[in-house]
Amino acid sequence: MKYTALILILSMFFNNEARSQNMISGGDFKDTDGNQINAHGAGVLYYNEVYYLFGEIKKGKTWLVPGQSWEDYRVPAGGVSCYSSTDLKHWKNLGTALRSVTGDQSNDLDTGRVIERPKVLYNEKTKKFVMWFHNDRNDYQDSKAGIAVSDAPGGPYTYLGSIKPNNQMLRDMTLFKDTDGKAYVAYSSEGNNTMHVCQLTDDYLKPTEHYTRILIDRNRESPALFKNNGKYFLITSGCSGWSPNAASYATADSIMGPWTEIGNPCSGANAEQTFFAQGNYVLPINGKPSNFIFMGDLWNKLDLEKSGYLWIPFEVINGEVKIIN
Ligand code: GAL
Repeated sequence: MKYTALILILSMFFNNEARSQNMISGGDFKDTDGNQINAHGAGVLYYNEVYYLFGEIKKGKTWLVPGQSWEDYRVPAGGVSCYSSTDLKHWKNLGTALRSVTGDQSNDLDTGRVIERPKVLYNEKTKKFVMWFHNDRNDYQDSKAGIAVSDAPGGPYTYLGSIKPNNQMLRDMTLFKDTDGKAYVAYSSEGNNTMHVCQLTDDYLKPTEHYTRILIDRNRESPALFKNNGKYFLITSGCSGWSPNAASYATADSIMGPWTEIGNPCSGANAEQTFFAQGNYVLPINGKPSNFIFMGDLWNKLDLEKSGYLWIPFEVINGEVKIIN
């Protein structure tokens, strides 16, 4: 009996120890000027010892696109914001990295369209900063990538245009730069049924013809790709619009696959709904090769500009991902 009690106390202690301290949880995420950070569907670039956070600027009244069979809530697409930090706690607003335009629905960057999930990579060869994002009509039927480029990490970024990689649909997406300098775009395709991973050209400005279909017919989106100890990890969400669902992760020895689905990386209360968040990026912590931050959005579908954030630090232990809330 005594022995059992001791084990119980010890396991309670270790469980508590293992629990992560959430770095950010909720709507209260302020920049160094004391203003609310507006960076949804975010991504982070680490360059010259500085973290640059890029995200969707959501500003204005939320409205429902008429005639849709799903909850197509939209808010004006305010372009892409950028904030910088050296400690991941204090974020300085660097202004709008990619500007949207108003009153021209034929322009990809019109506020009435979709500018989502921006991600930025630095290209060593061209010395340029390259941004990719999901660009769409407000009914999500264009399904393409927008590409922009800048000489400085914070921008301003010059818009180059939009593309459907290999003539395939691209919706939720992320970028990944491998240790050999090759870069990839991973995205929901084929009506969100199947994901693709496509290698980029050496300048990162275009897709190549080298792509693979993964998580076939698994209906996954919001991809976040990272690497640890030579292995690739991909965390995704299910497809339920702005409403939360269970995350799942897959691993691979080669980025082009085969990918093996492992299961839900989250545990703790509300793990089946990713703690009410949807992932947008996994941030590798500089200098700590097995430490990462799972970054997610707490969508507020009825008032999208009030959507919050959830950042949970985690460690990959023996090749396993455990995100604990
Ligand atoms: C989600 C997607 C978001 C946004 C939303 C629109 O599934 O992950 O980035 O596109 O749908 O309803």
